[in-house]
Amino acid sequence: MPERTRYIAANWKMHKTVAEAAEFVDALLPRIAATQSDVVLCPPFTALNEVVQRRYGTAVKVAAQNMHEEESGAFTGEVSAAMLVELDVEAVVLGHSERRQYFNETDEALVRKVPVALAAGLEPILCVGESEAARDAGETEEVLERQLQADLAGVESLDLARVVIAYEPIWAIGTGRTASPEQAQEACAYIRDVVRMRGGVADELRVLYGGSVKPGNAAELLALPDVDGALVGGAALDAEDFAAIVEAS
Ligand code: PGA
Repeated sequence: MPERTRYIAANWKMHKTVAEAAEFVDALLPRIAATQSDVVLCPPFTALNEVVQRRYGTAVKVAAQNMHEEESGAFTGEVSAAMLVELDVEAVVLGHSERRQYFNETDEALVRKVPVALAAGLEPILCVGESEAARDAGETEEVLERQLQADLAGVESLDLARVVIAYEPIWAIGTGRTASPEQAQEACAYIRDVVRMRGGVADELRVLYGGSVKPGNAAELLALPDVDGALVGGAALDAEDFAAIVEAS
């Protein structure tokens, strides 16, 4: 089985000004100099350039938190793949549950966004995950399969392993309630199975867990066989905490 490089991403959401982002990067870099993992910072659009500039010469990658599927046009407030690539951004978070919930991010948009990102040379970090009601109703796998089939429908089988998939149960995001190791392992293994069924090179696919990952629970989650990394929100706002999570990977 191929060795999958660990992938630890910091999703800052709507946090950090340019000055705060700069301070974070300067504090983080010396702390993670020895890591073998892929470390990815996802600042808000306004801080992308600052983070890109400060990480040059290191292995740290930079991701945007969203992207529009069209090349250009009358889409006030949106940003295209080419605009991100021009800044030397390498990846983009797509389909985060907050975007699905508050900004009407739909599967119809995502089915176009994922291949557009790949074609532009951006690594998509596609987020999927069930609500608490869906989990309670025993529909977790159904929800995950539906989202994956819908959002990845425009991606060729051979390209599926170029997508990073983050399993983020909505009930665990920002709540302090982490999925149990059994729940995280089961869901991440299932995601890999769905990609395998779609004809993807599932052994190479990176599947992340996200939802209240902290320095104290990261090692246990990252040791699970099908969890290849983490998408970290709250604990990624502090350089020391995020460095501790990178160290646990
Ligand atoms: P959290 O957020 O770590 O604060 O739960 C994770 C995410 O939304 O990506």
